[in-house]
Amino acid sequence: MTPRATDSLWIDKAPATSYPSLERDLEVDVAVIGGGIAGVTTALFCKQEGLRVAVLEKGVISGAATGMSTAKASALQESLLSEVRRIAGKDALLAYAHANVAALERMDALVREHSIDCSWERLPDYTYAAEESQVSTVEQIVEAGQEAGLPVERVTDVPLPFDVPAAARLDGQAQFQPATYTRALAALVDGDGSAVYESTMVTGLSEGAPHEVRVEGGVTVRAKHVVVATQYPLLDRGVFFARLEATRSYIVAGRVKDVPAPDAMLITAGQPTRSLRRWGDWLLIGGEGHQTGASKADPERYEQLIEFGREHFGITDFPYRWSTQDGMPIDHVPYIGRYHPRAEGLWVAGGFQKWGMTNGTVAAMVLSDLIAGRENPYAAELDPNRARVRSAPKLAQVNMLVGLHFFGDRLTPADASSSDEVPAGEARVVRSGVGKVGVYRDESGGLHAVSLRCTHLGCLTKWNDAERSWDCPCHGSRFDIDGKVLAGPAVKPLEPREPPA
Ligand code: FES
Repeated sequence: MTPRATDSLWIDKAPATSYPSLERDLEVDVAVIGGGIAGVTTALFCKQEGLRVAVLEKGVISGAATGMSTAKASALQESLLSEVRRIAGKDALLAYAHANVAALERMDALVREHSIDCSWERLPDYTYAAEESQVSTVEQIVEAGQEAGLPVERVTDVPLPFDVPAAARLDGQAQFQPATYTRALAALVDGDGSAVYESTMVTGLSEGAPHEVRVEGGVTVRAKHVVVATQYPLLDRGVFFARLEATRSYIVAGRVKDVPAPDAMLITAGQPTRSLRRWGDWLLIGGEGHQTGASKADPERYEQLIEFGREHFGITDFPYRWSTQDGMPIDHVPYIGRYHPRAEGLWVAGGFQKWGMTNGTVAAMVLSDLIAGRENPYAAELDPNRARVRSAPKLAQVNMLVGLHFFGDRLTPADASSSDEVPAGEARVVRSGVGKVGVYRDESGGLHAVSLRCTHLGCLTKWNDAERSWDCPCHGSRFDIDGKVLAGPAVKPLEPREPPA
């Protein structure tokens, strides 16, 4: 049997953090919800504006999407440039590409200015056609990149141990250790009237002057500005759940000592996705993405990536495997700006579509400008309250699927009629009267039973066997075996249930 997920390589190897949880009411200029790269960098830039900030992170700094990334800081981004051009148009393409280039340079400057020891390396990034049918995608990427003014080239010589028919190449991009980087920035935020809090779960928000952010345990943070940087926006006032598709993807890290591995970042131009980057004696291989909760998340997905590493690089030892999640905006442009059209001092950053290293930094640059009352050249195209006609079919498709899950999943029969049928280390949906309950049996035989009803908008969660979690197919909320929230937009746990006899 393929082992299930481990911690990510990055989180395991980064210096640990020990910020306190927030235990008392607080008043600051800017409250930032979310301690990933977007939240922490926004907090730092706001502090540099002379503002008092507080970062509120429900787990540990960079413990979610940032610490689970492949950590490529690149403006090439697989086929996103051509997708942005196709759906959002040329102005959006220019803003998106230039913002990402500017973010890359800002990160480079931060690393040098603060001597951050995060293995920052400038390297070429390639999007390659794994077969002839992907060549036209590569050509569109080259065209879109050049239209945006980036020196993207079409090449056939690619640092891989197999031939490819074509690739798009962009030099001077970067890879790094994301948890070390983000934790170094968090250390710069903490102190002098600003603070970082971990194990601090936000459960609600009242808009006003100041805004009031409610934290689990009855504590309140009052702030003139609130930034929601939780990857998939919590406390959904901008109806982001209707405009973002939550997707999961998987990563394995294998030891490549004495094994030739590329000194470049690479990703396929089509399916199945294979994303590669090296870190010292490690090669990371990512891919196997799917919509959260909608397709089966099982350990076999790791096996597919491991097989790729064995076949092409001869790697035999894969001690790390983990998965990650991100929101895909319907027009392929992140949502960065005002949370909703009437919001005053309430900001959001999300929808980074798996390219959150530069996009998270773009968010920090844009939001810190807007909070300081300055114009930002990228803000209009990234505005969360935009509407684009060409994204309407995708909007309809995403929401039709949500409707299908909401109603259809209720009609799906349970897969066990009693908790006795649940094997150790596995979960089943067990019939309970006229309803269904999610039951997991741990290795020592203990039963953990929860309501399947997602506390966001009521879709039924599904078991994720790769990571032992209950995942919602509608907007990607995730819950642990006892119902605790692992990922939003939900902020409340699944209700506990008695295991059906
Ligand atoms: Fe929206 Fe579950 S995440 S209903």
